[in-house]
Amino acid sequence: MIVAKTLAEFAQAYSNLENKADIGFVPTMGALHEGHISLVKESAKRCSHTVVSIFVNPTQFNNKQDLETYPRTLEADCKLLEECAVDIVFAPRVIDIYPQEDTRVFDLGGLDNYGEGPRRPGHFNGVAQVVTRLFDIVKPAYAFFGEKDFQQVAIIKYFVKDLNYPLTIVPCSIIRESDGLAKSSRNTLLTPAQRAAAPHIYKTLCKAVELKGKYSPKEVAAILAKEIDENPELETEYIEIIDADTLRPIENWNDAENLRLWCAVYARPVRLIDNIGL
Ligand code: PAJ
Repeated sequence: MIVAKTLAEFAQAYSNLENKADIGFVPTMGALHEGHISLVKESAKRCSHTVVSIFVNPTQFNNKQDLETYPRTLEADCKLLEECAVDIVFAPRVIDIYPQEDTRVFDLGGLDNYGEGPRRPGHFNGVAQVVTRLFDIVKPAYAFFGEKDFQQVAIIKYFVKDLNYPLTIVPCSIIRESDGLAKSSRNTLLTPAQRAAAPHIYKTLCKAVELKGKYSPKEVAAILAKEIDENPELETEYIEIIDADTLRPIENWNDAENLRLWCAVYARPVRLIDNIGL
């Protein structure tokens, strides 16, 4: 496993890969946990080579404090990846990815009009900026993304198709702690009291299944939000039941074929997101 910390180091390591037509790629921002590792294992299973990037992308943070406090643990990350048949860890500097300001504005097909989009202005455009740059550098045949960030996968699939990228996006299931909390690098920022409260989010989301028969989608969302907020450590920003294909919140249960329930909840100042299929 080679750790490339500049574009030049990456180019050198890349040139030594035997089968460049069969590269699996897992983009991350580091502080790796079993969620990330599940994507890496999926890539190692499917592809001749696996490249993992670790880059805390400044253009997708709309909150300076969030960018500054984002955990950076390169050494521990590399130790984890050593055990996973990874060929190259690409951990570039900002200047390698953005030699000058990226002013591109992407067509995201309106998929950023919902959920995280309006609450984190510019976030998904920043994701598109970095992911396209990484795809251009790594040229993978497959790229692996977690459904933990359900909207992110949908948006990446959209622009990959729109821009004719010759690669397949592979969505991977959410990995959870044994108490149900979705694994996230941000979980390390929770106080002990917040960490103890956080599994209440997933437990509450699961109740949607039984409420579905009795209430409208908006009523179910309101009931769940109220239940989450009963915990003093938690504060729901939004809960929505959406069409999993268009990401649009639904009014009636038969408005869509595939339904997803998604939410963002504050354990201040940390913001947690989660989702489940319905
Ligand atoms: P990051 O938050 O580091 O996540 C990297 C990948 O790991 C994403 O595809 C994310 O959905 C997946 N992931 C995180 N937690 C997971 C879990 N509990 N179960 C399954 N998959 C999980 O997402 C980003 O980085 C960035 O936006 C990035 C795509 C790298 C662009 O900067």
